[in-house]
Formats: sequence, C-alpha cells, structure tokens
Amino acid sequence: MSVADEIKARLDIVNYVTQYVPLKKAGRTYKAPCPFHSEKTPSFVVDPVRQSWRCYGACATGGDVINFAMKRHGWSFTEALQELAQQTGVQLKKRTPEQRDQEERAEKLRGLLRTSAETFNQWLTFPDSAPAAHRQSARETLDYAIRKRALTDETIGKFLIGYAPPDWTTLTDLLKQIGYSEDEIIESGMAIRNEHGRVYDRFRNRLIIPIRDDRGRVVGFGARALKAEDNPKYLNTPETPLFNKSRLLFGLDTAKAAIRESETVVIVEGYLDAITAQQAGFGNVVAQMGTALTDQQLKLVAPKYAKRVLLALDSDAAGQNATMRSLEVARRALSEDYAGRLQIEIGVLNIPGAKDPDDFIRESPNEWSNIVASYRPVADFVIDFETRDLPHNASIMEKESVARRLLPLLMASERDLYKQDNLQKLAARLKIAEKTLLAWAAAEARENAKQPRSAPRPRTQDIPDDLPPTQYTEPPPEFDEFGDPVPYDGPEPEPSQPRSVAGFVAPSGDMLLEVHCLQYLIDQPMWLYHINRRLRLLAGDERPLMEGPFADLHELDFSDTAHQIVWKVLSDAINQDALAHTDAINQGIATQGVEIVDRLRMARQDILRDSIRSRFEGDAAVAWTMLQQRIMGPEIAQDDLIRTTLRLRLRRIQRESEDLQLMLAEAEAAENQQQAKSIFKLTPPLLRAKRLLDAELGGRLR
Ligand code: UTP
Ligand code: MN
Repeated sequence: MSVADEIKARLDIVNYVTQYVPLKKAGRTYKAPCPFHSEKTPSFVVDPVRQSWRCYGACATGGDVINFAMKRHGWSFTEALQELAQQTGVQLKKRTPEQRDQEERAEKLRGLLRTSAETFNQWLTFPDSAPAAHRQSARETLDYAIRKRALTDETIGKFLIGYAPPDWTTLTDLLKQIGYSEDEIIESGMAIRNEHGRVYDRFRNRLIIPIRDDRGRVVGFGARALKAEDNPKYLNTPETPLFNKSRLLFGLDTAKAAIRESETVVIVEGYLDAITAQQAGFGNVVAQMGTALTDQQLKLVAPKYAKRVLLALDSDAAGQNATMRSLEVARRALSEDYAGRLQIEIGVLNIPGAKDPDDFIRESPNEWSNIVASYRPVADFVIDFETRDLPHNASIMEKESVARRLLPLLMASERDLYKQDNLQKLAARLKIAEKTLLAWAAAEARENAKQPRSAPRPRTQDIPDDLPPTQYTEPPPEFDEFGDPVPYDGPEPEPSQPRSVAGFVAPSGDMLLEVHCLQYLIDQPMWLYHINRRLRLLAGDERPLMEGPFADLHELDFSDTAHQIVWKVLSDAINQDALAHTDAINQGIATQGVEIVDRLRMARQDILRDSIRSRFEGDAAVAWTMLQQRIMGPEIAQDDLIRTTLRLRLRRIQRESEDLQLMLAEAEAAENQQQAKSIFKLTPPLLRAKRLLDAELGGRLR
C-alpha cells in the first residue's frame, strides 16, 4: 500500500476536517460553509462513506483527505504525506537491500498477475481480441457468463472476470514477450513445468475469476471449467509467495465498505455466490476459499469491520459439519482477543430448498434480506446440531456428555444475558435443570483449567511463524531514493496520540477505473480529444448538458489526490502543445514523486519501472502500446478508454446528484426559496445525462 493509501486508511475525513471546519450532519453527509471561499449558504460537503469532500460553490473543487490538507495548509503533495504520516503514526524507517529486493520481486509478480487478469478480461469482453482460433469459444464463454450466470457487463468489469483459451502456451508466450522469465511465470502460478521441462499455461479453456487481496491486488485465480467433464470444476492458483488461501477472503476488497456500513459480513462458500450477491446489491458478502474458514480469514473482517459474522454454507451434512468447524474457529479467533468485550455475534443462515446463495439470489433477490435478517444465533444452531442424534429417552450420562461438549461454546460470551439465554435453551432441549447444567459447566471449566487444551497465545501474535520460507513479508519502512516516505507495514507501535481508526479504504473499483484511464492517457495523450469529442456528441446541442454533466474531462472526474495531480500534469502537457507529450508527461510525473508513479505501476509496474531505470522513458509507452494492440488493436483500446472514462463520469454524476438531492432537501427545510430554486435547476440535466450514459454503457457488450 502506498503511503497515501495507508494515511487514508487511518485518517477519517470527518474527524480530520472537523478540526478546521464546523461540520454539521445533514443526512448521510456533513455540511459547512466552504473554508476555501467566503459564502453565506453552506456548499461544502463531506461524505464519510466515500471519504471525500466537495465544494459546490465558487471554488468547485473536491477530493480526498490529502487534498483537503494540502489546500488547508498550503502543502505540496509530498509535504502533506510527510505531515500526515507523522500525525497518523505511519512509521518511516529504512529498508534493507534484501527487503527492497524481495519487495521488488513481489511487485513484479503482482504486475504479472494483474497483466494476466487484464488480458483474460479483454479476451472475454472483446472476443474479437482473443487469439484467432478461439474467438468463437470466447464468445460462447461470454454468453455463458451473461446468460447462464446472469453476470452484468459492470460485474464482469468490476471483478475482472476473463476467458482463458484452450491452447497450451497462449498466456506464457504473451508474458514472455512482455519480458517475464519462465521462472517468474511459474513462480506466479500461471504456468507449470512438466518433467520434460516443457512450460505450459496452468489455466486453459476456463472462465477466469481473479482473486484479489483486501487491498484489491490480484494475487491468484480461481478458474471454472467450461465443460462438465473437465476436472476439477475449479482450478485454483497453488500456494505461491503471493497467494495464501488461508489468509484471503474472496471479494473482500469490494465488500469492505458495505461490511463496515452494515457491521455485518456474510460468508458464503463459492466465488460465484459472492459475485452474484454483490451484483444484486448485497455488498457485504465474501467467499471462503474452498477450504475451512481460518482465524486469519476471520480477523481480516471481524471485529475490524464487522460486529456480526453470518455463515451461509451448504445445508447438506457435509456443509453442516463445515459450519460447525467454522463456528469453532470463529469462537476461538474472536473470543481469544475480544470475547464479550467487543460482542461479536455469530449466526448461521438457512437458505431454503438447499440451494446455494447464487441460485437463490438469482431466483428471488428480494428474499435475501429476509434470510439474512432471520439468521439463527450460533447457540441455536450448535444445540440443534449436537442434539440431533440424541434419542428421545437419552440417559443422563448421554445428556451430560452432549452438554459438556456444548457448554464451553455456549458460555463463551462474557455477556451474562447471552449466557443465561443459551443455558435456558440447552436446558429446555435436554430437559435438564439449569442448575445441573451450571454444575457441569463448572466441572468442565475446572478440568480444562487443569489441562489447558492449547497454550494461550499472546494477543499481538497475528501472524503465525509457520509461513512457508518463500513467503514475502511486507518490508519495513523507509525513505526511498526520491526522498519520499514509504509506509511502514510491520507491527504497529503504540500511537503517541489517539488516532482515528476509520480503517476505511476507498472502494477499489473507482480507483482502478481512474488508474486505467490515466494509464491510457499517459501513453496516448491525444486520445483525450476522442474522449471530449464523445462527451460533446452525447451532449448533442443541449447547452446545459454541454456545460454541465458532459463538459470536457476534468480534475473532478478523479477522486484521488494523486490521480488529480497526474491529470493536471497530463492536461498541462497537452495544452502546452509540447512536441513530445509522452516525454513531458513522464518527466512531469517523475517530479511529482515516486508515490504517484507507484500507483500507476499497479498494472504494468515493471514495464514502467524498467524503462524509468534504464532512462528510456519512451520504451514504456511503446511496450505498453504494443501489448495493447497485440491484445486488442488500437480501435478497441480507444474504445476501452472511452468506456472507462464514461464510467468515471457516470460515477461522478451519481455522486453529484446524490449531493444535490441532500442540499435541495436542506434548502427546502430552511425555506430558502432562492437557493432551492438554483439547486433545482441543476437536477434535470444530471438526470438526463445519467440516463444517456446508462444507455451508452449498457448497450455495448451485448
Ligand atoms: P461448489 O462446487 O459449491 O461450486 O464449490 P459453486 O461455487 O457453486 O460453483 P458453480 O455455481 O457450480 O459454478 C464452492 C467453492 O469451493 C471451491 C471454490 O472456491 C468454489 O467456489 N472449489 C470447488 C474448488 O476450489 N475446487 C473445486 O473443484 C470445487
Ligand atoms: Mn453454485
């Protein structure tokens, strides 16, 4: 994670801005008179969910917390990072050469995986870009995704779902051409070397589902067979330096905000269960990784984001056993550090008709909320499970043995209310007096105290020391060669002052769109004209559209400070009519600090890095353009850029119309007719633009 991301994850924008501006809550957002220009009616809006701010008045700017701090204090980007890093306790220290080396290797592999994911995604979404012999099969796979699995264009883009053709070395050849070595391709899990030394693609003729970590970085793949006779049904990336199943929850990067908002996480079994749920608007659903739930997986979400953990695993016998195992893991993981104190609730969902969530949500999307709302508390579930085989006329000994198995789980909560409730339930089920149960519980506790089942683990030990030797550990911090701070990812020192623990990370979908758009424009600055031409075309002759929602691409289309800065460099270079735009841009970006370059490297970081190192800036552009054209041809790439930009614009319009609605309601409540009228005038063009964009984007894939 870059320093900027680290800071944003730690600093809640509302807390930060409140220090300088008297914010007032207004619905979901906060409002105040804009601190950057003088005004009487407040048009400065801070949104805690998006972690963004925006002035709708004279200054017409906005952004994230970093950008706010820069404006407020007159800091440069680098100064803002240094100041805020210090305030938030982001530590800055030296990295050893070995650690730096390791991190570079990890980054290179991430670039490889990201490039693979993007390539598979291109082949699926633009079947004509797939290798010639397999275009038909790419089309059929897209059809399967859309018709059979009911995935939308948007979902396929959001999860970067893709298609891998059946040939043996398609991907490997491509990756080698970009400059990856066979060893790197194998280390990443994308290829296999057989006993004769031949290297071939691991994923062939499959629907590809990239698996990302909680920061949205592609670390591996789950690949579904397209033919029923192909085994296994899902082929996954093996354990690699970057891919460790027991520390990943599928879909968490896109689910984080919704989990935080609902304080609930729903854990399902399959990748497609999570995808379908998120697509249907149930954003807080993530999937296990085809193995039993681990405590490392749980700790990714609870209690950090979620106070309620709901399991929606299969309801057959195997599924019930898996649920029991997961509950046991959950109890241990959560009670060890946080029992009672933080009151994590665990529950089990029952999906009628023994369907998996994917089928169920597709058939009856409106029922899902009810299923979630009527979860069974963990105690009910385990009592049913453990007593299901108990005969009607069970002896007292049989009952005692069941009770002793159950009591530790039922009494784990520190909240007396729960304990009492659980005790009553078990007493009723076993037809045993509560007093007797209490005596058994005490006996069980005494015996456990005599021989502890496992030594208690130190509280701070989050990372086990049984990692495979190749595991990359995150490097300790430092200033890099550009003098920029690098975030410290190791164990956290006690913060010297209380800091905000917002733990919020902006949804990566928007970030990726922004990065994607900028990457294209860096290589092909002149394509900006195509974008603006398309926007004007959409506006038709309507002035309010042309000057409002379909105005030329603008700083406000980017929500992240670093992206806004790159955008400024870009548009300056283009406006100055520099002869070599790409050179001017690369230079401009380099002077803004490595921080920004880092982010743009996410997808093809190694290409850029190598070219920057070797000082042949032009090579990066050429390499990337070649790759793009090889994958999809310039027209398709251009089309992809325009689509990406229109999606960015659509999101901006959505943000703005939500904000306007709120301000309108406010103005009406305050009986400020004049303001209400002027806000009201802005709404129809936004709505019209939204419809036009929806149509433009929706109608293209199918
Ligand atoms: P399921 O077999 O329940 O599949 O596996 P599913 O998710 O419902 O798949 P569809 O709907 O038929 O496409 C559940 C999960 O178990 C893991 C995967 O993570 C999968 O999502 N799995 C399953 C494997 O890793 N390998 C397999 O061969 C099968
Ligand atoms: Mn399924």
